[in-house]
Amino acid sequence: MTRILVTGGAGFIGSAVVRQLILDSGDSVINVDKLTYAGNLDSLAAVRNHPNYIFEQVDICNPQEMARCFDEHQPEAIMHLAAESHVDRSIEQPADFMQSNVVGTYTLLETARDYWNRLKEPQRRHFRFHHVSSDEVYGDLGPTDPAFTEVSPYRPSSPYAASKASSDHLVRAWHRTFGLPTLVTNCSNNYGPYQFPEKLIPLIIVNGLQGQALPIYGDGHNIRDWLYVEDHARALRLALKSGKPGQTYNIGGRSEKTNLDVVRSICQHLDMLAPRKGGPYARLIEFVTDRPGHDRRYAIDDSRISVELGWQPRETFESGLAKTVRWYLDNPEWIKRVQTGAYRGWLDANYRHRSRL
Ligand code: NAD
Ligand code: TYD
Repeated sequence: MTRILVTGGAGFIGSAVVRQLILDSGDSVINVDKLTYAGNLDSLAAVRNHPNYIFEQVDICNPQEMARCFDEHQPEAIMHLAAESHVDRSIEQPADFMQSNVVGTYTLLETARDYWNRLKEPQRRHFRFHHVSSDEVYGDLGPTDPAFTEVSPYRPSSPYAASKASSDHLVRAWHRTFGLPTLVTNCSNNYGPYQFPEKLIPLIIVNGLQGQALPIYGDGHNIRDWLYVEDHARALRLALKSGKPGQTYNIGGRSEKTNLDVVRSICQHLDMLAPRKGGPYARLIEFVTDRPGHDRRYAIDDSRISVELGWQPRETFESGLAKTVRWYLDNPEWIKRVQTGAYRGWLDANYRHRSRL
């Protein structure tokens, strides 16, 4: 059993990681999360009362509170997922992204370095700082470009991507200069149960079920590589356990799709599982004003993690999407609870100014 401090464990990916660490690996977890709009303790109902689970509502930018968490709980490893994570919000309001993603990662690195320097062997040798990042740091690809590898140049397009790129650079520097045993993983777009309905897949499912328009930015031919969240969480556990300190691993879903194809697939699932009185769900599709700086295509070459660590995704896009749509249909109470006034305010801010194309 390992004692792991997870930041952002109340978020979409973090909660999948925490559930797997406790229920599948038998590890113990200290979940450090500030509970922004994206943090949701309902997603942790399965482990809330588990003896191996501790929750600390703390902002990673607060050095005193972070030092207290390290000293009090004596973690053997850090998995750092806390971040502002939505590109559209980073365009509306970049400040929170610079604070949590850049200053927050810096604060965590400094806290971890001070703690690690005080550890005795063999704990010091076994300690790991695992930083969870994005493929968006590499910018975008043309239709026939080869997929991103771990040595692709950094060319972030959005304030979100630039903040994640900055945090990756900090982690690399703390490894090179101070010897902190770090790991970085860069993954593609995740989807699955418990995702906040501001990101494409849950937004389309929830809007469809509520008879609202299904907004597609621009021509809908932007391509993303979709990774099922439970596959990603398994990859993260593996990278933490077997990854080489100082190394980066790319994680993808081997499922490149255009946004239009994704939305059409969701409509087909909904047509089968919850037929609409007004006709097929695809009738709700609307093409709307594009996102500024919208990346055209992402694709991941996952050879390193698959060859060196033996990871493979278990879900295809079709099987993962079927599970995801089913989960949202089965969890109307979860949807209702996240659709607060603040959520409606966000929809208004992001979609009001977009005209139909
Ligand atoms: P999310 O937005 O669902 O959750 C983020 C969590 O971090 C929330 O629980 C929030 O309360 C917490 N948080 C934010 N700022 C904090 C702070 N200052 N202090 C403490 N907690 C804070 O995000 P996610 O989709 O679960 O993403 C997790 C990580 O994976 C992020 O680092 C993100 O950049 C990265 N990532 C996500 C995707 C994706 O498709 N979702 C893809 C690539 C990389
Ligand atoms: P998103 O889920 O926000 O993830 P990211 O921007 O990190 O890739 O968006 C996925 C794709 O879907 C992206 O190309 C933007 C597009 N999109 C829409 O077409 N309509 C929407 O309402 C949203 C939220 C996204």
